[in-house]
Amino acid sequence: MMRQAGRYLPEYQAIRAKAGDFLSLCQNPALATEVTLQPIDRLGVDAAILFSDILVVPQAMGMSLRFEEGRGPIFPDPLRDAAAIAKLTLPDPNTDLDYVMDTIVRVKDRLAGSVPLIGFCGAPWTLAAYMIEGSGSRDFGHAKTMLYTQPDLLHHLLDQVTESLTLYLNAQVAAGAQALQIFDTWGGLLSTPAFRAFSLPYLRRLIGSLNKGDVPVILFVKGGGQWLEELADTGAGVLGLDWTIPIGAARARVGDRVALQGNMDPGVLLSNPATIQREVQDILLSYGPGSGHVMNLGHGITPTVPVANAQAFITATQELSGTFHTHAEVAR
Ligand code: CP3
Repeated sequence: MMRQAGRYLPEYQAIRAKAGDFLSLCQNPALATEVTLQPIDRLGVDAAILFSDILVVPQAMGMSLRFEEGRGPIFPDPLRDAAAIAKLTLPDPNTDLDYVMDTIVRVKDRLAGSVPLIGFCGAPWTLAAYMIEGSGSRDFGHAKTMLYTQPDLLHHLLDQVTESLTLYLNAQVAAGAQALQIFDTWGGLLSTPAFRAFSLPYLRRLIGSLNKGDVPVILFVKGGGQWLEELADTGAGVLGLDWTIPIGAARARVGDRVALQGNMDPGVLLSNPATIQREVQDILLSYGPGSGHVMNLGHGITPTVPVANAQAFITATQELSGTFHTHAEVAR
């Protein structure tokens, strides 16, 4: 589940309170390990996702970062000109982000092979958008201004971010991550030509530069339904889908070139177990029989979701998905 650890879980709230704040929790390997494991124990999901945030990479590149309750992430000194971008440094993941690698090692040890661990990062464009804007935003006006008035400067920033992410993801694999997810949360804000110029080539380069062996890469572009064929060509093995495209229609377009992950509207989790079960069934029917589907939400779970509803999503998937697979596939 996207954001399977988090504020909807009382045991997460308790550990976050112990850590003090969200970033301190990310940077405390012992506590980040506990929070990563909580939903595995509580919900019985099939994979763990590293507890961290996409914005620790810009922080490791030298930007100051804080998270404000109710406002989300804030970079107090956003990148608005060449001088600010020139000050960024290339992080050494094993020192500047050592707490992430330490958490991966600890989680792997505790999981002892029971379920795989997914590592992750933000996409170059999504990280650059936050770094330029300084916070979340409805339209990312500052980032768009740079894109249309100083495209070379934005390309330079994207180049630096892509280089940093390559080091970061390779270090996650070396530490033990068994799958990698790349979040292009703000890809859908771009026009098709802008997506092709400022996001897609950097995704392709990032995925192509990984020493990943057989570690699958899951690529999630929110609002990216119109670019599925191009996304299937990036080298990713799995495309994450938001809930705006029927998963069966996505499957018809990409065939068996990639697996698909998704795509229930997280808003469904605000309903009740019977409705959740019906929506899960509809997604399974839309995808149809055969392998290549990872059930998930189409975006992050929201803080007010009752735990019983998150549980109903997992249980319904476990109960209903078997009939969509042949015995041979289940045995594998
Ligand atoms: O899924 C998991 O359990 C793994 C942990 C995870 C978090 N953030 C923890 C988190 C992952 C994979 C992320 C990715 C992330 N972070 C993305 C990409 C996915 C997406 O949601 O689109 C983005 C855009 C961010 C940046 C970010 N971090 C924002 C905008 C916020 C504020 C959101 C909010 O609801 O307030 C965060 C904070 C954050 N990251 C929380 C968690 C559990 C909530 C922090 C808290 O208050 O405890």
